[in-house]
Amino acid sequence: MSSSDSSILVTGGAGFIGSNLVLTLQERMPEAQLTVIDDFRSGDFKNLAGYRGDFVAQNLATLDWRQQFGDEKFDAIFHLASITDTTLHDQFAQVHDNVESFRRLLNFAKPNRTRVVYASSAATYGAASTASVETNGAAPANVYAFSKAIMDNLANRAAREFQDWIIVGLRYFNVYGPREAHKGVPASMVYHLSRQMKSGQRPRIFKHGEQQRDFVYVQDIVEGSIRARAAKESGIYNLGSGHARSFNELIDVLNHSLGTDFKPEYIENPHAHYQNYTQADLTQVRNNLGYEPRYPLETGVADYMKWLYPADGK
Ligand SMILES: NC(=O)c1ccc[n+]([C@@H]2O[C@H](COP(=O)([O-])OP(=O)(O)OC[C@H]3O[C@@H](n4cnc5c(N)ncnc54)[C@H](O)[C@@H]3O)[C@@H](O)[C@H]2O)c1
Repeated sequence: MSSSDSSILVTGGAGFIGSNLVLTLQERMPEAQLTVIDDFRSGDFKNLAGYRGDFVAQNLATLDWRQQFGDEKFDAIFHLASITDTTLHDQFAQVHDNVESFRRLLNFAKPNRTRVVYASSAATYGAASTASVETNGAAPANVYAFSKAIMDNLANRAAREFQDWIIVGLRYFNVYGPREAHKGVPASMVYHLSRQMKSGQRPRIFKHGEQQRDFVYVQDIVEGSIRARAAKESGIYNLGSGHARSFNELIDVLNHSLGTDFKPEYIENPHAHYQNYTQADLTQVRNNLGYEPRYPLETGVADYMKWLYPADGK
């Protein structure tokens, strides 16, 4: 990142990934003008401790961008705002708020061809048993994933129509790391299992812990998102660790980091549509964005546990 006077807008900046992105941008580009838009439906101002930029508290699904910003130009927009509770089955709310927010943002960005980097999701792939490749068709199993698949369709359509406008979609996999506690139930399993173990309970996972996830540390997601800003052309990419690890393995890794020795407690899985396997194929994102994840599960969890439980002094 070079230009010192860049003007960058981040939607969803009070949320988990958004706040990590904003604070990293601020650190790397101290002269940049940063603006966050968030309506706090799941975010929390506490995630932005130390933030020195502007904050617009607005709902993007109804925001009139021209009225809010006039002719103000941004060099790039990172769009992370979204309903992120995948178990919210209100089909109208999920699709309306997620898709209309994106449509309004694209309409604002179009005249100046403002670069847009937006968060899609691995959920768009639905059930998988091998690494997902970007060219796999969308097979959303819930309405959250459906809303993300529609966003991908809108982005593809706009990129086809306007070849001089760069729009990059990122299908984040299973992200964990600092500043996610505000999410409550939708926070990562790394967070929830560690809380159970820290309070002396056996970690509870669905029978028999063999389901696998591409757990990716938030700092890798931030790096990949920042790289996407420099993309030479539009595209939609996976962003993950590239590895599928089981919940049983995750508990081993947590035991190691926390200095505990808990055995998992297996419980029935109540979900009819459950992703038993997620893994990002990183070929495209490596080749086109130069993305390389730096945190294997062991390293990411160790780093996160130090942040989450500083009193341990580990
Ligand atoms: N965390 C993950 O594992 C993961 C995986 C795949 C995709 N994603 C995507 O990454 C993005 C960030 O997710 P997160 O984990 O940080 O979740 P989060 O819930 O912490 O962040 C979302 C933020 O968007 C805000 N927001 C939601 N709807 C809004 C609206 N209409 N107007 C204004 N603000 C609004 C919320 O208040 C919140 O601060 C989302 O788009 C999510 O779908 C996350």
